[in-house]
Amino acid sequence: MCGIVGYIGTKKACPILLVGLSRLEYRGYDSAGISTIEKDGLSLVKDKGRVKVLESNPEIEKLSGTIGIAHTRWATHGKPSKENAHPHQDNSKNFSVVHNGIIENYNELRNMLEQNGYHFLSQTDTEVIPNLIHYYYTKNQNNTVNGFLQAVRDCCIALKGSFAIEVISKLFSENMIVVRKDSPLVIGTSATEKYISSDIPAILSYTRDFYFLNDLEFALLQNDKATFYDQNLNEIDKKTSSIEWSATASEKNGYEDFMLKEIYEQPTAIRETIGARVSLDSKCNFEELNIQKDYLSSINKIYIIACGTAMHAGLVGKNVIEKLCRIPVEVDIASEFRYRSPIVNEKTLSIFISQSGETADTIAALKLAKKCGSRTIAITNVIGSSITRESNYSLYTHAGPEIAVASTKAYTSQVILLNMLAVYFAELLETSDLKTINTIKQEILDLPKKIEETFKCKDQIQDFAKKIYQEKDVFFLGRGVDEAVAKEASLKLKEISYIHSESYPAGELKHGSIALIENGITVVSILMDKTLMEKSISNIQEVISRGAKTLIVTSHPCNENMFDEIIKVPDTISYLSPIISIIPLQLLAYYISKEKGLDVDKPRNLAKSVTVE
Ligand code: AGP
Ligand code: GLU
Repeated sequence: MCGIVGYIGTKKACPILLVGLSRLEYRGYDSAGISTIEKDGLSLVKDKGRVKVLESNPEIEKLSGTIGIAHTRWATHGKPSKENAHPHQDNSKNFSVVHNGIIENYNELRNMLEQNGYHFLSQTDTEVIPNLIHYYYTKNQNNTVNGFLQAVRDCCIALKGSFAIEVISKLFSENMIVVRKDSPLVIGTSATEKYISSDIPAILSYTRDFYFLNDLEFALLQNDKATFYDQNLNEIDKKTSSIEWSATASEKNGYEDFMLKEIYEQPTAIRETIGARVSLDSKCNFEELNIQKDYLSSINKIYIIACGTAMHAGLVGKNVIEKLCRIPVEVDIASEFRYRSPIVNEKTLSIFISQSGETADTIAALKLAKKCGSRTIAITNVIGSSITRESNYSLYTHAGPEIAVASTKAYTSQVILLNMLAVYFAELLETSDLKTINTIKQEILDLPKKIEETFKCKDQIQDFAKKIYQEKDVFFLGRGVDEAVAKEASLKLKEISYIHSESYPAGELKHGSIALIENGITVVSILMDKTLMEKSISNIQEVISRGAKTLIVTSHPCNENMFDEIIKVPDTISYLSPIISIIPLQLLAYYISKEKGLDVDKPRNLAKSVTVE
């Protein structure tokens, strides 16, 4: 979950590393640290707290080395503290290491190392790594750079769990070794510089050419050279990929927060997701998918598997795929899927959704589905991310970098992509009539404009946020696909405002949870599906009778006197309405968080990319 960054080049490493860390801080932010190769050995500066605490440390000024590694932590083992902050060093201070992930067998390794005379300064799992490198380095008795590589390799083979690691050594002052397994790490390259990072946007202002490592591939880096090895240390060939995202896409560009910027980027993001995939005069085009009608006719189930917001997008996808393609769709939470002995085989198509493409639970579920014989499609926003290396097909949302921890534009771009995929399948299978297909396509193309119109509700939402920001509980209700939106709206509110909230199918409340409704409580209802409107209004009536304050989001005419606040949004077909109706609710969560004076982009206890299971 943390952010790691590295630099090896001709300039001072420290300022570049600090910029990288601040761009990666959304991934983890309980402590930060840096280590560079200086004339007199390895420096080590670290502190509890955010990157700005590290920046103000007087020791930072003294660093002038041109090779360095840095880390912003999201603690898994050991509380946030200076001792537990990364980088960690071996006892002899020959090796500095930063690590993202979890070493599952660290206890066993720690015992072994202690028996061999090593001692430990932190409670982290990570600290075994530099010591284990030192252990193998001395054991192998090879004092060349190959010996360094061999020691890192031997260490990694002994590790169980997930890791992205950068290692520098005072013994090899021109080199850095990086490796990953089930944790993200990319290498940016130019003629005389190498930049290492947990994600692409953090170093996009320096280079557009990237190397991607597969699990247990090692990179031995010098400023002007990158050599790659497999786990047996056979040299392997690697090509760079060029990344097209604009460098400013990962800056705030005048917005107060990334989340607000990303909310307002949704029309553009969706235009990018649509790209050339939809047009009125030809069939939906997914050239990345080499799926034939015969195969699609042979499957009897589609699984959609994801976590959090991505899973909520999956719920919307289920509705449209089932209706257009008549294939049963099951949506599962990735961390649950693995443990329920799922019924998956070659007759199942499994779709995995992940903005980051690095979510450990989702990747583990994908590996399982593959093992069971299922074909797999990954829907992700990040080119070259781990999930794309594991799946049979990768569909990119092209929403641009999403930095705020609370996902907004990634969700809406996933929903539009799932709609397009449903149309693509229906066209292949001929399960829907042309009129329906053309209406959906037209609505897809009209959607960016409708989102722009939706932003007109901003002032009304901001005023409502002022009225309710001190509340302790908020309820979200919806029927059918509106319930998926209720779930997503509730998650948004929880994660950035810390207000307890629940979402329910509107008709389910009366089966128990209505006991929680009391005078003055806020109930937000999504009423986008015209066919279900009357029934839902009856349910809202039930909470009004018990004193609830009501806000509704709808595109249909309704009794103005019945509700406390009505947010009118543009109309679209029900398949796509979750993209419109979530916008005011993203803004509601945002403005409530602002009213409470919270850090919108970096909410407590969370990290953008959850690379641990
Ligand atoms: C979204 O607001 C959340 N922060 C979280 O639920 C997120 O959607 C989830 O962790 C999945 O992430 P992914 O899309 O990168 O796999
Ligand atoms: N497990 C390591 C720790 O707790 C790394 C966590 C991270 O990825 O930030 O320090």
